[in-house]
Amino acid sequence: MALEIKGLLATYGEGMVLHGVSLTAKKGKVTALVGRNGAGKTTTLKALMGLVETPRGSIRLDGRELMGLPAYARARAGIGYVPQGREIFPQLTVGENLELGMEANPEAKEVPEGVFETFPILREFLNRRGGDLSGGQQQQLAIARALVAAPRALVLDEPTEGIQPSVVQEIGRVITALKKDVAVLLVEQYLEFALDIADDVYVIEKGEIVQHGAPDELDQEKLKETMSL
Ligand SMILES: Nc1ncnc2c1ncn2[C@@H]1O[C@H](COP(=O)(O)OP(=O)(O)O)[C@@H](O)[C@H]1O
Ligand SMILES: [Mg+2]
Repeated sequence: MALEIKGLLATYGEGMVLHGVSLTAKKGKVTALVGRNGAGKTTTLKALMGLVETPRGSIRLDGRELMGLPAYARARAGIGYVPQGREIFPQLTVGENLELGMEANPEAKEVPEGVFETFPILREFLNRRGGDLSGGQQQQLAIARALVAAPRALVLDEPTEGIQPSVVQEIGRVITALKKDVAVLLVEQYLEFALDIADDVYVIEKGEIVQHGAPDELDQEKLKETMSL
């Protein structure tokens, strides 16, 4: 399983934000996209999901071209998206949030047991409102909501944002375990975390990939500069 982005441009109205981003995320690996605030990380994921204008580029999931498909069709094609800020529905229960996630896959009839094994707290809190969960629990719910549709690729936008260190570690373990089943694309500003769990890293600056390699192959000096500019 592989997600391949090639030469992707993205615009907000007149403003061009991505200038030809190319990256590949494969099953068996955690692929990280890192960069400082405003570099274009979220825009890359939104472009992938069909949520911003993309005048050019190619997005292939297991060889199938997704460019031109509306957002719901990309989700149905097998991309699970965990947006920045989680965006769970606070008024709905945990169970209802998970049911909404299943709508991305017409074959999904119930929450796969593995999801509750990964996140036992969600079974316990099935009838609680999403808004009553802690930040870390909401993040787990957001990841679970993407997983219930049994995606081929899982893309996560800053899953560690605003979360306590102990929970960050737990989320790191979960992401690492998931790579055996899906291609994982992790967007992060928290560099240490990303370098710790990623097998392959892309560094983005002003909408362009400026470095790519395994964590220990990256030019550390250049990386520090990119992240702190
Ligand atoms: N809705 C929007 N309209 C116009 N410009 C935007 C919008 N969202 C983001 N941008 C701009 O696009 C650039 C990249 O933003 P973003 O992808 O959110 O960065 P990151 O996720 O790396 O912090 C920034 O310069 C930001 O100001
Ligand atoms: Mg962002």
